[in-house]
Amino acid sequence: MCGIFAYKGYQTNATELVFEGLKNLEYRGYDSWGIAWKKNQQIQVYKQVGKISEASSEPFAEQESTLAMSHSRWATHGAVTQNNAHPHFSSDQSIAVIHNGIIENYQEIRDRLGRSRFSTETDTEVIAELIAEYRKTMDFESAAKKACHEFEGRYAFIAMSQEDDMLIAARRGSPLILGVAAGEWFLASDIPAFLKHTREVNYLDDDQMVVIGEEARFIDLLSDMEIQKRTVTIDWTEEEAQKGDYDHFMLKEIMDQKETIMRAINQNEEEILKIAEYIKKARGVFLSGCGTAGKVCMASEYFFSIVANRHVNFAPASEFPIYHHFLIPESLLIVVSQSGETADVLEAMKVAKEKGAKVLSIVNVQGSSIARTSDFSLQINAGPEKAVASTKAATSQLSLLLLIAYAVAGRLEEGKKLLIETASMINDMLNPRFLKYIKEVADAINHSEHTYIIGKAANYPMALESAIKIQEVSYIHAEGFAAGELKHGPIALITPGTPCIALIAEDEVRQDILNSTMELKSRGAYIIGVSPNMHECFDHWIRVPDAGIASPIVNVIPIQLLAYHLSVLRGCNPDMPRNLAKSVTVK
Ligand code: M6R
Repeated sequence: MCGIFAYKGYQTNATELVFEGLKNLEYRGYDSWGIAWKKNQQIQVYKQVGKISEASSEPFAEQESTLAMSHSRWATHGAVTQNNAHPHFSSDQSIAVIHNGIIENYQEIRDRLGRSRFSTETDTEVIAELIAEYRKTMDFESAAKKACHEFEGRYAFIAMSQEDDMLIAARRGSPLILGVAAGEWFLASDIPAFLKHTREVNYLDDDQMVVIGEEARFIDLLSDMEIQKRTVTIDWTEEEAQKGDYDHFMLKEIMDQKETIMRAINQNEEEILKIAEYIKKARGVFLSGCGTAGKVCMASEYFFSIVANRHVNFAPASEFPIYHHFLIPESLLIVVSQSGETADVLEAMKVAKEKGAKVLSIVNVQGSSIARTSDFSLQINAGPEKAVASTKAATSQLSLLLLIAYAVAGRLEEGKKLLIETASMINDMLNPRFLKYIKEVADAINHSEHTYIIGKAANYPMALESAIKIQEVSYIHAEGFAAGELKHGPIALITPGTPCIALIAEDEVRQDILNSTMELKSRGAYIIGVSPNMHECFDHWIRVPDAGIASPIVNVIPIQLLAYHLSVLRGCNPDMPRNLAKSVTVK
């Protein structure tokens, strides 16, 4: 959801600095944006509807300031208008605030303070108004603390005061990270905002506040006590967070898969074996995640079943709480999340922990809330994933979970060998000829309004994932099915020329899925076969290497590319699909 980024330091171009940094967070929200800065003891605000990447920095060029904050919005409360864009002022203009999250009791606070004081439709305005109200009788820090005690819901906010030369920020449930350099502080919802300036960070936890004046002080809001926080050096580089020569992050991140599988499986073996033992001993293992990460979990159910003969249950994180009846202290919940900040996943973890169960997380973002609040955590090391559509994170998650399944089976070395071979095959597959061919396939189906994808066994969840990829970036209606389910209903949708994609592996179910593909062909479907081998029913053959049980990792990549090209051909922006945000930090 929304991106927030603020700066306090000695550089006098703070407005330009936050303007540039915020562009790196645009994937978090892109319906409107705004900046507040202090100049001559006055808070100035500039806000606009639209994408910051398309805006000019001109309004900030002459603004000498050492204190500024910025926000890119993904609307939850209030339409996409300039007035609803952040920063928001208190009615007396003494406090300005940017916020990510939802203040659930905002109506109550509005009623109490008087509705006439509010001029936007947002929940955020109450943060500024309440702090300003308390600031009348106490210092800025005490006013912010007192206000925080009254907020219900989730927030990461940063506040600036007319009277005080400081930034105050607090979090509960939404990410907030402090980047630290000599005499400079960078507050952001995600690291890429300040990667150019520092890699030294302090992660704020829930119910913590940071007060940045002459120095940064941390406060635990539950006890109101000052606390010390550990500084961590993060290992992402600025280059990794840029798109280089690629037109879009999505394409860059698809191509990164030449290397990311190897990085995902490069884990501490002792740690993997310890986790495998835990899985073996657990009484009830659950897998959970949202969207693409959820489909990864679903495919991993098959991995655990086929490779390790273990029954593992998948539930989407938004549905997981209903499983609480089955949770006991000996249960294990494995959560998968690229961002490590997804609210539904955090909620699933909370439910599991309340029952005394343990949580293993598989995340991409180091130090994320999910990573820090789980009992065990593994990082997939895919580097920053900025396109809203998850690509390299998904194949890295699949690779790591397959490796764990092999470890559970007591065959870690065999799993490693298979995945190393798979990584090398993906490296070969992503060659210019292959890329050109996928573009040709996209050209052939570009004008279709519907696409169906079928798969079987671990390729069935990948059919669902392929549908997500095509839907979210090209807006073509796409649906995935278990191949065998076609004849029970969906085949009625097929008319002559309907594009249907079959994800096929060289495994024991190959003939079954080929039979389903022929049934589609008999109804006039236009068949795109993703398969190591050609079949006469294919109108297009996307040739993929034979990766055995790792085939879901290989098969999903051409569909990521296909979705990318469909998006571009249809004039969409694959990096910023409408209505979506990269990190979904609201329930
Ligand atoms: O950061 P997470 O992996 O927890 O995000 C989960 C989903 O929101 C995410 O996978 C979403 O479905 C992707 N945009 C799909 O490409």
